[in-house]
This record gives sequence, C-alpha cells and structure tokens, in this order.
Amino acid sequence: MSKIKILVTGASGLVGSRFVELAKNYQFCTPEFPKFDITDEKSVKNIISEFNPEWIINFAAFTDVNAAESQMGDENGSVWKINVEGTNNLVKAFPSKKIIQISTDMVFPGNEATPGPYAENDKTPDVKDYLTWYGWTKNRAEKIILNHGGSILRIIYPVRAHYDTKLDYLRGPLKKFSEGTIYPLFNDQQVCIAFIDQIAETIQRIIDTDNSGIFHCSSDTTTPYELISYAVDKLGGDASTIKQISVYEFLKTQTNKNRYPVWGGLKTVKTEEKLDLHYYTWQTIVEILIAQGLSLN
Ligand SMILES: NC(=O)c1ccc[n+]([C@@H]2O[C@H](COP(=O)([O-])OP(=O)(O)OC[C@H]3O[C@@H](n4cnc5c(N)ncnc54)[C@H](OP(=O)(O)O)[C@@H]3O)[C@@H](O)[C@H]2O)c1
Repeated sequence: MSKIKILVTGASGLVGSRFVELAKNYQFCTPEFPKFDITDEKSVKNIISEFNPEWIINFAAFTDVNAAESQMGDENGSVWKINVEGTNNLVKAFPSKKIIQISTDMVFPGNEATPGPYAENDKTPDVKDYLTWYGWTKNRAEKIILNHGGSILRIIYPVRAHYDTKLDYLRGPLKKFSEGTIYPLFNDQQVCIAFIDQIAETIQRIIDTDNSGIFHCSSDTTTPYELISYAVDKLGGDASTIKQISVYEFLKTQTNKNRYPVWGGLKTVKTEEKLDLHYYTWQTIVEILIAQGLSLN
C-alpha cells in the first residue's frame, strides 16, 4: 500500500523535527527555510503542486515570543507575515481540508477574567487587547485555518530530551541550574508542558483516523517552581537552592503584563476521548525524559 504523502513545514524546528523522526509510516516532503518560505506565495504553490500532498502539517512559525513583542501591531513585520500571511498562503494553495495548524494556548489571554486551563471548544478572543503579538498572530492564523475547514492542534511548552538547536521549557532552566545562574521561579503561575513524543502521536492519530477539529496536547497543570524543582530533584541536584517568587510580585515591576499570563494551560479531555489517547502527567513526562537521557549538563 502506498504511503500517505505529507508536506511538513517547519520540519527542522523543535517540534517538527521530532515528529518527522518518530512518524515512520508516511512519505514526507520537508522543504527547509529559507529555500522554502511560507511567506512567498509562489514558493508555497510550487511545492504543493509538485509534491501533491494529501495532508499538510504547519509547524512553521515565528516563535520567539519576546522578539515578537517589538513588532506589536505591525502587519508588515515578519511575525505577522510568517504566522498569518504564511498560513493564508498554505490554505490558498491547498483546497483540501486536511491541514493541521500547530497552535498555542497563547491564543487565549490567560488572565483572571478568562482563566485557563482552556478546553478545546472555549471561544478564543476576537480582539488582541490581552494577548501578546505572537499570541494574536497565532489567534488570527487559527481563524484562517478554521474558515478553510482545517484542524488545529494547540500545544504548550513542548519538551523533549535532546535537541541541540534550541533549549525548551525544561532544558533551559536545567542548564541555568547547572551553571548556577537559575533565576527565581514563579510559584503561583499556572502552566502545563506538552511531551513532544505525544504531540507526534496525536498528529499521527488525527491522520490515521481521518479526524478533524480542534485538539489539545498537554500535561496537567503545575507551576514553573514545582516543575523545575521536581526535575532537578529527580536528576540528583539540590532543589532547595532554587528560589521562588510570586508572578504577581514580578508583574508589579513589568510594563508589559500580557507577556506573563498567570492562568494559562490546556485541558485535553475532549481530545483524549475523540482520539482515544491518554496524556501523561507532568511528573511522568519528566521521568520519561530522564529515561531518554535528559540530564543536568
Ligand atoms: N516552542 C513553544 O514553546 C511552543 C508552544 C506552543 C506552540 N508552539 C507552536 O509549535 C510550532 C512549532 O514550534 P517550534 O518550537 O518547533 O518552533 P521552532 O523551533 O522555532 O521552529 C520553527 C520552524 O519554522 C521554520 N520557519 C520559520 N520561518 C519560516 C518561513 N517563513 N517559511 C518556512 N519555514 C519557516 C523554522 O526554520 P528555521 O529554523 O530555518 O528558521 C523552523 O523550522 C509553531 O507553530 C509554534 O507556534 C510552540
């Protein structure tokens, strides 16, 4: 039987590269930036007509949330062009609904008025007021995909045991801990992590069952302090040296309050039911990553 043909954008990134590594039963086309640029309508059209994919998984994005803030409101900037116009180029060139957009909990504000963790069918805001610029551009990209009839997979702080190009939400602080430069961690900010191996499993399940809709992949909720202390402890470090701070105290010193959502996170009940999956707790994810080679070095 011939393999399903999948165009994967952003296949060299933190999440996409692990998906391509783990998902063995497909025929992939993984064009790399800058040779392939989703902001270039012609380049998108050409690759789609040449490869003729059955599915597209869009991992490509401008993902540096801090850097994106300096482009707030700029629809001529690279964040808007990649995240919104790039997504639009994909759907314009691909009439099929078999497109999965990788998205984020940051499409929601994560504030006290409308707190997470968010369910798959919770309504995302139609105004950018309480979102980061990154979050707003990903929010607009979701609208484009949903209007087209495509699917959304929201993830949050994706983590894996190894990836040299970029540190993630666990490996970043663990490196700082090892170097003795760890900053005080929030003990009252609600966050989740997503095990990238389970993100890969989720995408495969959507494809193999020919599913569609809005999906979430996430652990249960924790705080950065609890998460990193647990990992350090499991790795044999002295977690009692890690300082803690309230996110509310920290926010008093910040002008850009939207950058640090206090009540983030994703619920996964509907996705787990629909796809017959079970996502690990954050503790189990840490333990599996350690078994896969996550270390303090
Ligand atoms: N990391 C997180 O904390 C997080 C959390 C929630 C959701 N997400 C979402 O998950 C997806 C994957 O994130 P990630 O962490 O894997 O991101 P990443 O490591 O930054 O990878 C992004 C990928 O997109 C490519 N890319 C950037 N601009 C492009 C363009 N104009 N045309 C084509 N490709 C382009 C990059 O290529 P180069 O490497 O060559 O630039 C890279 O392969 C994104 O949609 C992101 O919004 C990430």
